[in-house]
Amino acid sequence: MASPSDLNTSNSFMHQFLQESSYPEELKQSIISLPREEGWLYPHMYNYKGFWLDSEFLHGALRCQKHFQAQHSDIIVCTLPKCGTTWLKALVFALTTRKQFPVSQQTHPLLTTSPQELIRNMEFSYSREISPDFPMNGNGFRVLSTHLPLELLPKSVWESKCKLICVCRNQKDTVVSYWHFMNKLRAELLGLEAIPFPETFDRYCRGASMFGPFWDHVLGYWKESLENPGKVLFLKYEEIKEEPEVELRRIAGFLGCPFSEEEEEGGVVGGISRLCSFESLSNLEVNKTGKTYHERPAGNNLFFRKGKVGDWRNHLTDEMATRLDQIVDEKFKGTGLNL
Ligand code: A3P
Repeated sequence: MASPSDLNTSNSFMHQFLQESSYPEELKQSIISLPREEGWLYPHMYNYKGFWLDSEFLHGALRCQKHFQAQHSDIIVCTLPKCGTTWLKALVFALTTRKQFPVSQQTHPLLTTSPQELIRNMEFSYSREISPDFPMNGNGFRVLSTHLPLELLPKSVWESKCKLICVCRNQKDTVVSYWHFMNKLRAELLGLEAIPFPETFDRYCRGASMFGPFWDHVLGYWKESLENPGKVLFLKYEEIKEEPEVELRRIAGFLGCPFSEEEEEGGVVGGISRLCSFESLSNLEVNKTGKTYHERPAGNNLFFRKGKVGDWRNHLTDEMATRLDQIVDEKFKGTGLNL
């Protein structure tokens, strides 16, 4: 059952959900009796249809499912938190607007605006407004983002020809990044003390992480990318690190805007890769001191920490690494996916 603190505070998202008249009573009843776990920013996370969301994102997800109308030309960046969302947003933005904003331009939007601002998260936006405005970019189409698992995407995503691009990352690096991020967010927004790593790790291994379980989220997009490769492109953080230009060409091909010979010769691919690299983005003033969401004024610097592959070695014991690997290997068995 939902707790009194989730239900009664006037700004509580669960409270807003229960007040919203367009939802059937049955749905409201089923939501308030969902299984729950302790949350990071709100008292609880709820298990909705197999996935963990706090009241803010659950409210946004339900509204998004009900109201979001996908358009054929939409591109949606779909990620589990901490798997490379910010990077993929930057890459997709730079790629899809490269005619309008040549990457060599001193006034390129990525130099002064956070990737989080340039490509807005759908469920976060819906948690604030019933009809958020997702503007077209200069080319007449929208680029959006979501942390929702494939199973919770709005129906219109499947009724339209919109394209989904997903990036995932090794589970051990993801849990480390998640722990740092969530603790910083708690401290910055609420002044709360840090949750120790072993506790976070244990919950992660039980699947109880935001938008998790990790494996179910990742497998949803992975399987769909195999069955429906024209609809879903599945990328790996480590592969983009290894060969950013190769992956950029894959993304461009998937989106139907491959690089021309002239662009190849002009070094456009390398230019996008360099502009969106960790070193470049994390050193920009906007990403060091700027803030994105005025509704939740967290610093853009929260989205940039180390940007490295293998940082888990500084946090996980051998025993922890084996435990998480075994869980994920077991879940991925026979799917052809390894991270
Ligand atoms: P670390 O915490 O391991 O450093 P998300 O954008 O999904 O929230 O993921 C954040 C993670 O991606 C963080 O990982 C962050 O440092 C890293 N990251 C952000 N921008 C990046 C970039 N341009 N290139 C590589 N990694 C990046």
